[in-house]
Amino acid sequence: MGLDYLSLIRERISHRSFVNAPLLPDYRESLEIFIQNLPENPFNIPVRLKLIDREDKHKVKLGTYGVIKGARTFIVGLVESGGDDNAMEAYGYSFEEIIIFAQSLGLGTCWIGGTFARSNFANVARIKNGEILPCITPVGITQKKLSFLERILRTAARSSKRKPWSKLFYLNNFDTPLQPEQAGDFSEALNMVQIAPSASNNQPWRIVYDPSQSCFHFYLHTLNGYVGNKLGFKIQRIDIGIAMYHFEAAAAQLGFNGKWEIKDPEIFIPHYHDGILSYMITWVLSDRTREPTMTVD
Ligand SMILES: Cc1cc2nc3c(=O)[nH]c(=O)nc-3n(C[C@H](O)[C@H](O)[C@H](O)COP(=O)(O)O)c2cc1C
Repeated sequence: MGLDYLSLIRERISHRSFVNAPLLPDYRESLEIFIQNLPENPFNIPVRLKLIDREDKHKVKLGTYGVIKGARTFIVGLVESGGDDNAMEAYGYSFEEIIIFAQSLGLGTCWIGGTFARSNFANVARIKNGEILPCITPVGITQKKLSFLERILRTAARSSKRKPWSKLFYLNNFDTPLQPEQAGDFSEALNMVQIAPSASNNQPWRIVYDPSQSCFHFYLHTLNGYVGNKLGFKIQRIDIGIAMYHFEAAAAQLGFNGKWEIKDPEIFIPHYHDGILSYMITWVLSDRTREPTMTVD
């Protein structure tokens, strides 16, 4: 029953205005079934997703500080994290999975990691000891027209804009920007990373393609403002998980199956004035159901 990930990823944008009506039972049921059967993420770190409604019996305010309009239902994502682990990447991967599934139902969503009453949502979702609640998303039928606030927010976050390939993707080392022709059939998988959502649209993913090993090394460009741990979790590591999901789903649809490995290739990392670059994970091609259109030596 495979979903058309390439189209769904391309269609997804953040929605912040919703039709103020309860989620129809069919949608709710589809989401609940998807949540119950959520596949494992590459880290095998369980991510707990929960649908909650504004009229929840717990009579607490499920607020988003005016950012989200009209939404009645939210998906809350919780994960256990010991701090120095891959919980945030696992979280980004699994949460994006439900975002894309919601898209397949024609429902709008918006990753929210900052502007929401975190402790109220945590109470309603019955947060467990050791769990954290990094993000929520509203889920529902969207208003056709973008609201004024929505337009301002989209402009502020440069939402429809993405960094060019030359700032994101490299060939063998960080001195050589990767050209789409050099990526061959993988270029579409990289396009899906390029258009992924990220906190404040910072797009902190950098990828080095090593054609000799058929692998893609993922790096995180941590901006100076994100080096600390103000939120209690590293929000930019969530962005890496999202990029991983987009890459893997797109590659699979293009006929490339791979596996994830954490094995630092020790590529020379240049110095950046606005942040630091660190190695995260590598996707290695394991088998393909069709030949790439072009190989690079
Ligand atoms: C981890 C994460 C946290 C986010 N937090 C917020 C938020 O608190 N408020 C908000 O309005 N948008 C938030 N966003 C949405 C981004 O601003 C949005 O994805 C980005 O601007 C790209 O726009 P697009 O999703 O329409 O492609 C978040 C996105 C991610 C991935």
